[in-house]
Formats: sequence, C-alpha cells, structure tokens
Amino acid sequence: RIAYVNGRYLPHGAAAVHVEDRGYQFADGVYEVCEVRQGFIVDMTRHLDRLARSLSELQMGWPLSRDAFKMVLREVVRRNRVRNGLVYLQVTRGVARRDHVFPNAATMPSLVVTAKKTDPRVVRAKVEKGISVITVPENRWDRVDIKTVGLLPNVLARQKAKAEGAQEAIFVDVDGTIKEGAATNVWIVSEDGVLMTRPADHGILRGITRATVMDVAAKLGLKVEERAFTVEEAKRAREMFLTAATSVVIPIVSLDGTTIANGHPGTMSAEMRDAFFDVAE
Ligand code: PDD
Repeated sequence: RIAYVNGRYLPHGAAAVHVEDRGYQFADGVYEVCEVRQGFIVDMTRHLDRLARSLSELQMGWPLSRDAFKMVLREVVRRNRVRNGLVYLQVTRGVARRDHVFPNAATMPSLVVTAKKTDPRVVRAKVEKGISVITVPENRWDRVDIKTVGLLPNVLARQKAKAEGAQEAIFVDVDGTIKEGAATNVWIVSEDGVLMTRPADHGILRGITRATVMDVAAKLGLKVEERAFTVEEAKRAREMFLTAATSVVIPIVSLDGTTIANGHPGTMSAEMRDAFFDVAE
C-alpha cells in the first residue's frame, strides 16, 4: 500500500507525520472519507465542498489547490489499485511547538491521503440482514457539523455498541430526539409512511450520502421531511436506516433491543440503495 504524506508517495508502513503535528496533539484537523466505486471517487465534488467548509470554520488554509487535491486523491486510489473501497484524507494545522494558539501563518498544513480496498461481502451481509443499534446520550460539542478528527465520543460510543453486540451507536439529544450515529446519519420511514431525517443544523454532520439520498428520493418521487424525531417514533417506524459513505444505505432492524417493523430490512431503503449509484456523481 502507498500513502501520500505532504507531497510524497510513501510505502504505507513508512508513512509518518511529525510528533509535533497539531492533529496528534490537539485533534486540530479535519478529514473526509469518500467511497471508491468501480475506480471512481463517489461525490468527490461534494466531499471537497464540505472539506472547504470544515477548513474555513477552523480558519485553516488549503494544503493544495482544489485541482491538485483531486489529482492526489485519484493518484492514491490508482497506486493502491482500489476499484472498490475508501479513500481517506486528513488535513491538520501542521507541525509546530506545542501551544494552544494557532502557529504562525507560515506553518504549512499537513495533508495525509490513504486508500484501502473493502470487502463488498461485509456490506452485502448488513444490507441483507439489517443491523442492530443502541442509543447513547449526546456528549459531543455543539459543532459536530465540522468534520474534525476529534472523534473520541464517537469512538467510545461505537465501542459500546460493539460490546453490546450492536453495529452502531446513535446519539440522542436531551429532548429525546435522535441526532446521528457515531459515523452515520439516521433516517426513518414513520408509521404514517413519511421519509424523515434530522435537519442538518449544527447538531449533526451534513452527510454527503444523506444529501445524495435526498436526490435519490426526489428522483423516485418520494418526499423527504427534514424533521427531528424521537427514539419512541423510531421504535414505531415502518423502516429505519443509516447512511454513510462507508456503506451507503444500511437498514436497521433493532433499536435498543426493540424490533423495528417485522424485523426485516424495509423496501424503501432497498429502493434508494439500488438507485443510489445512478444519482451519485
Ligand atoms: N463518517 N455523521 C458522522 C458523525 C460521521 O462521522 C459520518 C461519516 C456521517 C455520514 O457522512 P457521509 O455520508 O458524508 O459519509 C454522519 C465517516 C464515514 C467516518 O468517520 O468514517
């Protein structure tokens, strides 16, 4: 495997960043994960648009021009011979002597890009059987719309899910509404048949897959209501599912031990999953 680190393509095992990188010390950095499908990076423009927003919210500069960025992403995919998999990019505020305030303006941001193949059978099994999820109280900061590498609450939540035999943990707000998963956005088809997902305010990450699934729904003539819904509403839902670049659309069949609908993946999520790659760019 090959990784890109600050202008160089290195063997994965030898790729490293400096010990005083601010990503390492302060989680002072942002990232993106894009799906690679048939050798193409899915929704690359939308991912780079979101990266631009994350960088600007944290007053960080671009390490490369947008065109150079696209070239590097494609080159890392090519060099790793990934046809189906994921490409990961991370930009941090760079290497500087540890100090909370921003380093001086001459400090270059650090850029790391890696890619890996994924086993399509793993996702297929989840799609066919559906997954179990648990809820956890929201304990993150109030700017989770910025895709930062500061993911400790997400790590602990996902680990808790695993320990309890579930595949994802879902953050729940103090008012009982569902926010999002540790690394996924959450949707339901309500008991009245309304396709619903939480509005993308500062309380969730504005998922790229979420945006494309909205386009898919529009193409299929399905109305999407952007509204917060409670755990109780989800337990009564006809369908419940997750979206993320790592798995596109994944049906949920159990929430905190309560079976969703008849315990089998729903038809609407399957329809949207099937149409996804006709709509994604
Ligand atoms: N996570 N919400 C959170 C908290 C996420 O971390 C992610 C993605 C999503 C879904 O966004 P998208 O559709 O753009 O992938 C929602 C990535 C995949 C990760 O951390 O691995």
